[in-house]
Amino acid sequence: METWDAIRSRRNVRAFADRPIDGPHLDRILEAARRTPSSMNQQAWDFVLVTDPAALERLSGVWRYAEHVAGSAATIALVAPATRDPDERETIQFDLGQAAMSVMLAAADLGIGTCHSAVGDLALARDLLGLPEDRDCMWLVALGYPRGRALAPIERPDRRAFDDVVHRERWAGPTSAVEASRGP
Ligand SMILES: Cc1cc2nc3c(=O)[nH]c(=O)nc-3n(C[C@H](O)[C@H](O)[C@H](O)COP(=O)(O)O)c2cc1C
Repeated sequence: METWDAIRSRRNVRAFADRPIDGPHLDRILEAARRTPSSMNQQAWDFVLVTDPAALERLSGVWRYAEHVAGSAATIALVAPATRDPDERETIQFDLGQAAMSVMLAAADLGIGTCHSAVGDLALARDLLGLPEDRDCMWLVALGYPRGRALAPIERPDRRAFDDVVHRERWAGPTSAVEASRGP
């Protein structure tokens, strides 16, 4: 898939087909995570891949909106150093957000759907994943081929209008690139 098509096709998929994802494709998705940029290149992350159906079922219990994890072909747990430092937390969260998006776009490129999940029960997630005490599972990204509608570019995404979110030069600047190029 073209990059632009992958960006426009990605959507959160919560119902997955009963079809495994090939190992090389999973590795490519994990490699996309590894290549993600991070603040000062600190790479304060680890990625735990879970594919065992019984383990996925248990993992879906870490958050009330993580039911889709149970039916996924695989789920990647985004793990980071446990910290109470608010600055460190903020940086880690930004970096993990970028890693999540790398995973999602690499998956979309292969026609594989993804869905985020938060983690409510950190202790349960640590136990299920066998994490050391100094690591937290911050997010889950479930993966699988969509059950039903395949990934395809979404013409009208459920998003705020372009001119509502895009500001050129200044907050109340011109709303189009053509207007902006004319100058003040
Ligand atoms: C930080 C973050 C946390 C999210 N947590 C969950 C979640 O716990 N469970 C879930 O089903 N979806 C979760 N989502 C998915 C969002 O609801 C979804 O991205 C949003 O509704 C837009 O839909 P789309 O991704 O299909 O465009 C999360 C998304 C983000 C960015």
